[in-house]
Amino acid sequence: MRLAGKNALITGAARGIGLAFAQTYAAEGARVAIADIDIVRAREAATGINSAAIAVELDVADPASIARAVDETVERLGGIDILINNAAIFTAAPIAEITRADYDRAFAINVSGTLFMMQEVAKHMIARGQGGKIINMASQAGRRGEPLVAVYCATKAAVISLTQSAGLNLIKHGINVNAIAPGVVDGEHWDGVDAFFAKYEGKPLGQKKKEVGEAVPFGRMGRAEDLTGMAVFLATAEADYIVAQTYNVDGGQWMN
Ligand SMILES: NC(=O)c1ccc[n+]([C@@H]2O[C@H](COP(=O)([O-])OP(=O)(O)OC[C@H]3O[C@@H](n4cnc5c(N)ncnc54)[C@H](O)[C@@H]3O)[C@@H](O)[C@H]2O)c1
Repeated sequence: MRLAGKNALITGAARGIGLAFAQTYAAEGARVAIADIDIVRAREAATGINSAAIAVELDVADPASIARAVDETVERLGGIDILINNAAIFTAAPIAEITRADYDRAFAINVSGTLFMMQEVAKHMIARGQGGKIINMASQAGRRGEPLVAVYCATKAAVISLTQSAGLNLIKHGINVNAIAPGVVDGEHWDGVDAFFAKYEGKPLGQKKKEVGEAVPFGRMGRAEDLTGMAVFLATAEADYIVAQTYNVDGGQWMN
């Protein structure tokens, strides 16, 4: 029960990695707000956890929605100790085919969403005076470019940079900002990535997943539960002296 007595707001927690974080946090004693644009699935997820989990409707690309979701979480849980900025979308295209609409949407969710969620929750944490923990979901995609994934890679590079700046700015309030950079994690997100590469590289469905899994030094793609240990650790007092860092949790992928 390493998170007993803590309240966590987790964005994009209706499925995938965010849902695994919510389940693990609840098992560690935290009360969790599952905040997602897909409120139907968020409600199902909250019901499947326990009575301490609540579902909150949130579009991280919409400033009014951010303000409402943070207010609602504070009101229903009594405060926020931990924020995980997990909501994001994947987008990919060759440079010649990138559209403004895709670019704007990806930056609005992955970058503006991360920054303005941090801002809104940090204002609450500062006013409350009890510090807090903010964990941003970066990616190995933020550490280098990829020929077909320019926009998503740029958004995740921005998340790493925002983690550094916000981490340095907020630590004086006792708020630790750090990030996790996964490699390749199986799930619905990667079903979409696989379908994209099937289209652009002419591969059969499932082939890209097989290739990336085999390329991971650990020997397989990641699973959402491979990331939960780091997400819990960064939210505990054991991580108080860790500031503005991005940790690879990727089966050795980045080192390789
Ligand atoms: N899966 C991977 O291989 C991988 C690798 C590196 C980093 N990541 C990052 O980890 C995080 C979680 O990834 P995942 O695989 O679980 O993704 P996912 O696509 O399965 O889940 C994303 C969740 O975010 C929600 N969401 C989308 N837009 C939203 C919005 N505007 N406002 C609120 N919620 C919104 C979706 O409804 C969904 O529940 C993301 O930040 C992703 O970029 C994933």
